[in-house]
Amino acid sequence: VSQAHGVKGLSDLGVEAVPDQYIQSLEHRFDNGKVVSHESIPVIDLANWEDPDVTESIFNAAIKWGFFQIVNHGIPLKVIEDLKASVHRFFELPADEKKHIKENSPSDVVRLATSFSPHAESVLEWKDYLHLVYASEEKIQAYWPAICKEQSLEYMKHAEVLIRRLLNVLLKGLNVKEMDNEREHALMGAMILDFNYYPPCPNAEAVAGVGPHSDISSITVLLQDDNGGLYVRASDGDNWIFVPPVDGALVINIGDVLQIMSNDRYKSIEHQAVVNRAKTRISIPIFVNPAPDAIIGPLPEVLEEGAEPKYKQVVFSDYFKYFFSKPHDGKETLEFAR
Ligand code: SIN
Ligand code: FE2
Repeated sequence: VSQAHGVKGLSDLGVEAVPDQYIQSLEHRFDNGKVVSHESIPVIDLANWEDPDVTESIFNAAIKWGFFQIVNHGIPLKVIEDLKASVHRFFELPADEKKHIKENSPSDVVRLATSFSPHAESVLEWKDYLHLVYASEEKIQAYWPAICKEQSLEYMKHAEVLIRRLLNVLLKGLNVKEMDNEREHALMGAMILDFNYYPPCPNAEAVAGVGPHSDISSITVLLQDDNGGLYVRASDGDNWIFVPPVDGALVINIGDVLQIMSNDRYKSIEHQAVVNRAKTRISIPIFVNPAPDAIIGPLPEVLEEGAEPKYKQVVFSDYFKYFFSKPHDGKETLEFAR
């Protein structure tokens, strides 16, 4: 079966079984029996940003869970709904138009692909994605696909305000007074907007949407639709917690970069995405990444009281390359910085 049209192409064919290369070995499959319901990640209301209780709940969530949802975050509901609609419109483009984008897009700004890192994976993930680099306005205007350009840009402009606020709060929790230019370069010097598209899968239990991994970002801002499929490692390090879709909410998670910079005070928690038989699920992460040349290591402020650094200094582009040189594999990428 041709893979030119991604997993959506396979799903549209209405096959009864997917090709073997998507089938996970038994020990790698998601186990529903490992989902616990006595824990859940917090939902934080950001209506009063400055309120010390709000700040406190963000610190606590970053320390204990590494994951939280936010509501009243300032991004208008219409901007969110328009973005989700444009994601569906994009993937529903005729296969030939998508093929054209796949083959002709400038890989440094736009990429359409399937799975995670196919050259390094022995089993592929059941996911198509469009990768949009939040580059200069000029490049965005020239290269982002017309069918979703305006909606994506509008969303990113609002999200950028939110991201700056969140990072400033998170830095305060690490005794950093404010985000100067150097810190900004090392926390949000490069941002990527991804459209994840998980079409219905006849072998849903045997495939992975996205296998267990931690993000390499400083933080990730994720918009998910109302189908659900995201699971986060429970505090016992073995079970999984379902992240329920909450209307208008965004899911925030701490990535490896902030775990490293905070010398393990903030946690970059493993998570995975499960697909289903009946419906298409979409999710839209913004990976808030350091600039490629930024040097990442424990911040002087967190080592002030004589704590031993748990990580060495790494150049972010090396860390990034290492992440994509192997399949998703839990928290293994962090070892690169030990
Ligand atoms: C991911 O973590 O890469 C995907 C998350 C999701 O689809 O909910
Ligand atoms: Fe992720």
